Order: sequence, then C-alpha cells, then structure tokens
Amino acid sequence: MDTIISKSPEETFLAGKTFAARLRSGDVVALCGDLGAGKTQFTKGLVSAFGGDPSEVSSPTFTLVNEYRDGTLPVFHFDLYRLEDNRELPQMGWFDYLEEEGVSVVEWADKFEEALPKGTIFVRFDIRDGDERLLRIEL
Ligand SMILES: Nc1ncnc2c1ncn2[C@@H]1O[C@H](COP(=O)(O)OP(=O)(O)O)[C@@H](O)[C@H]1O
Ligand SMILES: [Mg+2]
Repeated sequence: MDTIISKSPEETFLAGKTFAARLRSGDVVALCGDLGAGKTQFTKGLVSAFGGDPSEVSSPTFTLVNEYRDGTLPVFHFDLYRLEDNRELPQMGWFDYLEEEGVSVVEWADKFEEALPKGTIFVRFDIRDGDERLLRIEL
C-alpha cells in the first residue's frame, strides 16, 4: 500500500499523474472518498499522463461516464454518485467499457463493489484539516 499526503490540489493532480505510470489497458481504478476529497483532481492528473487534456475532465455527474480518447490510451471516467441501483450499470455500458482497450477510473465505486472486476485498484481519499488529503493506494 502506498500512502501519500497531499497538501494542495496540485499535489493531488501530480499523485494521479505519477500513479498512471503503473496502469495498463484493462485496469480499473476505484476512487473512494467524500465529495471534495480530490477524486476528480486525481483523475485530471491521470488523464494528463496519457496525453489527454486535464481541463476537459470534470465529474461526469449527469452522464455518469466521460470518455477521454485523445491520449495514448483511452480513459473512461465514471461517477456513480447518482446511480441508485446496480441494475442500471449494464444500460450505461459498464461491462462493455471494461472490456474495451483503455483504463477505467470510477468515482464512488465503493457503492457497487460487487460490480468491480477482480484486480481493481482502490485509491482511498480522506479529507484532513484544511487542504490536506490522505491518499491510500491499495494494490
Ligand atoms: N490537497 C487537495 N487535493 C485535492 N483537492 C483539494 C486539495 N485541497 C483542496 N482541494 C479542493 O478540494 C476540491 C476537490 O474537488 P474534486 O477533485 O472535484 O473532489 P471529488 O471529485 O472527490 O468530489 C477542489 O475544490 C480542490 O480545489
Ligand atoms: Mg468528483
């Protein structure tokens, strides 16, 4: 397990960018933590590592999934915050995305842990005082 203390949004961005180096096509990354913990900020860094534009990354709140395909490897960015029932997952193409060439990053993945494939990498975010965040990468 890797533990990272981030003291700013920039540090969380960098953590995501560094973390991306260990990812391969087909990997699924579950981002867990409260609203404002930095999950989307981390995803921006991750997308930038593959050559995508981080300014295009925002929580896919209404669409549930955003695709970033401009980089060397596509990144599928899910946010399951508003999803109420795991029976909606097939409709959003969840299982098709997981089989595609690319990396899947899932905010609020812990709501539907049973739908995550074996080998999913968990990154847990805890809000500390002020701008401090504790990031734990569980491999
Ligand atoms: N160390 C930090 N890491 C990440 N975000 C931070 C940090 N300190 C403050 N922030 C702020 O917290 C918010 C994190 O937002 P976001 O990444 O969208 O969180 P989430 O996707 O987990 O809801 C941003 O407004 C960001 O500026
Ligand atoms: Mg978010």
